[in-house]
Amino acid sequence: MELSEVLRRRRSVRRFDSDRPVPAETIDRILDAALRAPSAGHTQGVTLLALDEPDQVASFWRVCAGEPADTDDSWLRGMRTAPLLVTVWTSKAAYLDRYAEPDKGWTDRDEGRWTAPYWYVDTGMAVLLMLQTVVDEGLGACFFGPPADKTHRLLKEFGVPQGFDLVGVLSVGYRAPDKRSPSLKRGRRTTAEVVHRGQWGNHLA
Ligand SMILES: Cc1cc2nc3c(=O)[nH]c(=O)nc-3n(C[C@H](O)[C@H](O)[C@H](O)COP(=O)(O)O)c2cc1C
Repeated sequence: MELSEVLRRRRSVRRFDSDRPVPAETIDRILDAALRAPSAGHTQGVTLLALDEPDQVASFWRVCAGEPADTDDSWLRGMRTAPLLVTVWTSKAAYLDRYAEPDKGWTDRDEGRWTAPYWYVDTGMAVLLMLQTVVDEGLGACFFGPPADKTHRLLKEFGVPQGFDLVGVLSVGYRAPDKRSPSLKRGRRTTAEVVHRGQWGNHLA
């Protein structure tokens, strides 16, 4: 698929065909895409934990939301149909360590030096490549944040070592009809609103 078509087609999908698992080689291509992402200082501090066995996916949702019967929340019922979840983790320490190396020299590990916490920025870079690969493979996905107060239990459930922060999760699968997110009522900002040229407030090239 042309990149322009991938960009045009991508949208968040929140309900999936639960009878159709994602083939192993497709999972590999989606996960491998994350490794192509740029990263600050080439730290590559983003780590993925993919859950594609039904019992693994069920464990994830049990920790985050209880048993399936516990909900009449249609968002949750839709998301629970995803046969693949990719949980996305970052390590702040990996970035502070990398930038303390001689070529960077930030040996004080002072977070005030960072224009933005690149340990989070890099997860966005990796996630977007996965989202685009999902579209290229003919599937759908949604990036979402699980409840923050459940992340310590996810760490324990899946044996994630201390020092890794959960940034978000991608639900992935073959698309089923879903409801339009209410957030989309906000509309898409126009180029004139988003882009300034040469001087803030100037919108002409
Ligand atoms: C950082 C981030 C967090 C998000 N969290 C959620 C979420 O918790 N639940 C959800 O349904 N969608 C979530 N989304 C998806 C957005 O709602 C969606 O991207 C936005 O409404 C635009 O719609 P589109 O992706 O279909 O273009 C998230 C997206 C991003 C980038």
